[in-house]
Amino acid sequence: MTDPVVEETVTGHKRLERNVTLLGVGALIAVAIGGIVEIAPLFWIDNTIEEVDGMRPYSPLEQAGRDIYIREGCYVCHSQMIRPFPDEVERYGHYSLAAESMYDHPFQWGSKRTGPDLARVGGRYSDEWHVQHLVDPQSVVPESIMPQYGFLADTRLRVTDPDAMLEALAIIGVPYSETDIAMAAQDLVAQGDPDVPAGDLLDRYPKAQIRDFDGDPDRLTEMDALIAYLQMLGTLVDVNSAAAQEELAAETGR
Ligand code: HEC
Repeated sequence: MTDPVVEETVTGHKRLERNVTLLGVGALIAVAIGGIVEIAPLFWIDNTIEEVDGMRPYSPLEQAGRDIYIREGCYVCHSQMIRPFPDEVERYGHYSLAAESMYDHPFQWGSKRTGPDLARVGGRYSDEWHVQHLVDPQSVVPESIMPQYGFLADTRLRVTDPDAMLEALAIIGVPYSETDIAMAAQDLVAQGDPDVPAGDLLDRYPKAQIRDFDGDPDRLTEMDALIAYLQMLGTLVDVNSAAAQEELAAETGR
């Protein structure tokens, strides 16, 4: 230790380390700078999530299905966030983008996986498979411990006030238009019954799947809504598009 500058620094640091008050104040300053650097920019940017082509708010039927999903506690066993690890991507599909849950209130990410992640379950199975699986999971997957939800097929879908459902979400930032809100009740019925004219539903909710989901075209049941929701999960964003790739790069720093 002949270099006087080094010697001085070491002595200075020794003094800092031996004085609890000085060390405390020093640590506080260091942490405060780190905190400000992390937090302050959030006050000046409008949005922390980059928009990605294809994302849209849930249609009223999908949103009603989502509410049933939450009511029944499906999230207790299922997560909806595919992590960017090779084993997850191989099993569940492309990992989830932040934008894909930007209209989720509340989000369903979760880390408890008694059952598989459902973030990209949309389109993986037929509607019939879902009905059969929800009515009696063990009949399709014998070792399944998933409970039976057959009553959903016997329960008419009742959304007391579809307009209010969308309006409440609009208040917390989901961009439903005035037409979306005014049409909520009609949209709800039209998506689950191909015989009811859907109007411009597909313009307002691109990629919305319009059909009878539960195999009983005469009734709109909770099963219809839940399957409409399951079948659209992870299907909105084309993860291979340029914009999505850009967001991926921003998120992963690669
Ligand atoms: C007690 C835990 C539990 C609950 C609660 C539960 N599940 Fe499951 N779920 C499982 C397990 C375990 C599997 C894997 C075996 C199977 O396919 O049945 C599964 C599989 C699934 C699958 C097939 C996923 C795939 O990729 O193969 C879907 C879809 C599903 N569940 C939907 C639901 C829905 C919707 C609810 C709520 C109405 C729900 N689950 C509630 C445990 C649960």
